[in-house]
Amino acid sequence: MMARSDVLQGFLDAIFEAFDDRVTDALGRASIKRIVAASKVPHPERQDIGRRLPVCEPYLEDALSAGCDRPPFARLLERFRALEPLLEWKSRPQFDETASDNFPSGHANTMIVGPGGLEDRADIWLGVSLLAPHVRYPDHDHAPEETYLVMSDGEFRHGDSGWFSPGVGGTFYNPPGIRHAMRSGEKPLFAFWALLP
Ligand SMILES: [Fe+2]
Repeated sequence: MMARSDVLQGFLDAIFEAFDDRVTDALGRASIKRIVAASKVPHPERQDIGRRLPVCEPYLEDALSAGCDRPPFARLLERFRALEPLLEWKSRPQFDETASDNFPSGHANTMIVGPGGLEDRADIWLGVSLLAPHVRYPDHDHAPEETYLVMSDGEFRHGDSGWFSPGVGGTFYNPPGIRHAMRSGEKPLFAFWALLP
């Protein structure tokens, strides 16, 4: 069996521990459990894809330091920091009237494990989004169910919910196909997401 790099495995261990520690929703817990099981089989890692977007330079460091003094996030953020140079940050091409005007240059996403990610595979998706301050991400939906682990200030909504603030270490679950969005306030928004197709 092929080996996974230590830096990626170390990050996965830390994020799955954080999800296990924080997710309370029963459907979210079941989803994460299946993602953890699938992740035991490594897929090939893409090489030399690391690339930041301009929004990363001023805001990634702020976002990473927001939760780093609280266990178990200190270890998670430290391991994300070690992994980050290998990741390819991308912006979302879709832009509609629900997004703020500063959305195109004000956000970056990276797929860590999943389609087009560092570990390129279709069966599980795990990544992170960064929003500059005062950015509203467009409403969107997707078939895979999704569990968020939020590592910053910022607001979210899904379905008929109003905007809510999970806070650092907060989690929530998006059922398949639900419309959802996020927006940052004075500070950058930084949130991990795990999807199960
Ligand atoms: Fe989503």
